[in-house]
Amino acid sequence: DIESSIRPITLEEYIGQSAIKENLSIFIQAAKLRNEALDHVLLYGPPGLGKTTLAGVIAHEMGVKIKVTAGPAIEKPGDIAAILNNLQPGDLLFIDEIHRMPRQVEEVLYSAMEDYHIDIVVGKGPTAKSIRLSLPPFTLVGATTRAGMLSSPLRDRFGIVQRLEYYSLEELGQIIQRTASLLEVECTSEGAMEIAKCSRGTPRLANRLLKRVRDIVWIKYEGHINQETALEALKLLNIDTYGLDEIDRRILNTIAYQFKGGPVGLETLAATIGEERETLEDVYEPYLMQQGLLQRTPRGRMLTDAAKILIKMPPELNN
Ligand code: ADE
Repeated sequence: DIESSIRPITLEEYIGQSAIKENLSIFIQAAKLRNEALDHVLLYGPPGLGKTTLAGVIAHEMGVKIKVTAGPAIEKPGDIAAILNNLQPGDLLFIDEIHRMPRQVEEVLYSAMEDYHIDIVVGKGPTAKSIRLSLPPFTLVGATTRAGMLSSPLRDRFGIVQRLEYYSLEELGQIIQRTASLLEVECTSEGAMEIAKCSRGTPRLANRLLKRVRDIVWIKYEGHINQETALEALKLLNIDTYGLDEIDRRILNTIAYQFKGGPVGLETLAATIGEERETLEDVYEPYLMQQGLLQRTPRGRMLTDAAKILIKMPPELNN
């Protein structure tokens, strides 16, 4: 399908995250030369930055198969035992949202990651016994929005820990042009940059916006994407040029108008906005802070001066 056909397959094709790519490239070459499975990899950072894509790239570069699952889908120790037992030597197991596994499932992973075996309990009561099952060498790639949400015994079992960063405008522009050419739509670098500016630092949004802009430009202007048509299309889509979405705006406006610019505690803010504390902390705050719009202080969250100017907060509201 379209989604998988625009995903990069090789490290070479993968744009951005250059520090991670450089590290991974070395570890992958070394593992291949030693004829070993790659050490377990933990990828963390805000959503939409390409953790799943990167796991696919790692599998391709290692020349192994990838099996994809997610923390919330693994409910019981038996679920993870079955997944692990079906792996072929060298296979890559990708667990998205790995911080959301139940504790007993996590405990099965400890021995699997460390010595490639699991102990399963068969039977109940006095006749119950533990059976040791050997596993083939494999690579676990875990993804999470925050490394701190993992228990330390689990975190400590990853030999390679990498943090994904928001993409620069130039990188997003390159990704948009690459995707445009795969979608067979003409897009100038100026047109790509206009879309990049609205992409919240993430390829996921960049590619989604590109598809909508493509539709508008094609139907309304029968043309290709350049600076002018991109701006027109983005205006029609009601997209904010700072890359802020509705919830970003609501966070800034709530702090401004209900808390006079802050400081306001995270719990209070989350309750007022009607979002989960975790979502606020892992999904929204990192981007607002990276953009210099929000500050975390010991007394709570505060708007920066840049944010107050951006949302035109009346100065007399200030605390
Ligand atoms: N599509 C989505 N993410 C990408 C990336 N990092 N590089 C190239 N194409 C992408």
